[in-house]
Amino acid sequence: MKKFLALALSLVMALSLVACGGSSTEEPADEGETAESAETGETGGSGKIGIAMPTKSLERWNRDGSYLQEQFESAGYEVELTYSDNDVTQQVNDIENLISDGVDLLIVAAIDGESLTTVLDSADEAGIPVISYDRLIMNTKAIDYYVSFDNYTVGVLQGQYVIDTLGLDLNDTSKTYNIEFTAGDPADNNAPFFFNGAFDTLKPYIDAGILNIVSGQTAFEEVATATWDTATAMNRMQNILASYYSDGTQLDVALCSNDSTALGVTQAIESDYAGSNQPIITGQDGDEANLKNIVDGKQSMTVYKAVANEAVVTLALAQAILNGEQPGEELTSQFDCECAYDTSSYDNNTGIIPSYLLTPTVVTADNIQEELVDTGYYTMGSDGYPVAVG
Ligand code: GAL
Repeated sequence: MKKFLALALSLVMALSLVACGGSSTEEPADEGETAESAETGETGGSGKIGIAMPTKSLERWNRDGSYLQEQFESAGYEVELTYSDNDVTQQVNDIENLISDGVDLLIVAAIDGESLTTVLDSADEAGIPVISYDRLIMNTKAIDYYVSFDNYTVGVLQGQYVIDTLGLDLNDTSKTYNIEFTAGDPADNNAPFFFNGAFDTLKPYIDAGILNIVSGQTAFEEVATATWDTATAMNRMQNILASYYSDGTQLDVALCSNDSTALGVTQAIESDYAGSNQPIITGQDGDEANLKNIVDGKQSMTVYKAVANEAVVTLALAQAILNGEQPGEELTSQFDCECAYDTSSYDNNTGIIPSYLLTPTVVTADNIQEELVDTGYYTMGSDGYPVAVG
């Protein structure tokens, strides 16, 4: 089994390398543990890289951690990878340990974007460059670069999917639809970008009365889900269904920012929704349980982000930084995958952070094979459900 997983992981890495342009696997760390490796690879990178991931309980970060470890080890770097169980204090401790272990560069996906100022300022004092990975870290000048996907566009794609699927037309107010929003963790700087992308896209239809938010919960703070927790999202949706939809009012859309929240909302609709229609349910990340629900028609779509490519971009950026360069737009010419260099969208309250933003993709039951399996990011299980590689 381990041998098969290692083989599968190398395969997807080879494919993503092909997909995004720049090999061995080491067991990724368990929660709170640090995985060390003394791989010296063929492409001459040297030095130690500290990688701090938020948690293993949200599926994608397991893949991020193993892809990043794979990329850097294959490039010859030593890797220390930590997972901090969504515990902010533990992540600060883990990063302090990485700094005292003498890493040459830090890659950090923050649990709480506002909680790392002190520890990263000490990294800065130690001359350790920091890449803010996927989620922007706020209130510190210690951040050199930000690598992520175009987070606002993730929301726009979810909103546009609703418009296209319902065939909404601002000139036709004869048919109206009911919608409820579920957003992400307020401590995650990405969450308002996802929510605003979707809400801004649908606002003209909300203003026209074509889309109605029966609960009246329209502000990010009202629809946010702490730690992106599935059970929290389920409980909130159960309360909304009981309060506003138990009289037979139809729910047409449950716009969820990501898959872990969509899973909870789907469970609430399955157990507590009295209506006979299948509401549109959106998501993000391509979590296996949600892809199964998409195949089974319980969830409508997910916005997929090829995190294997996010790791490829992060490696190229880190190599340039460790070579003493100050990479800019030119770095993107290395990649076959879509990646934009952005110097206007992300201000972490100390100024604009230069960013490399990859492009997300809409996945539905109709294009799962093409977008996820034919690309090598997933294999199709014998039960007809996609299985993530890596
Ligand atoms: C976000 C990330 C999403 C989603 C969410 C929960 O920061 O961009 O892909 O996974 O965290 O983990």
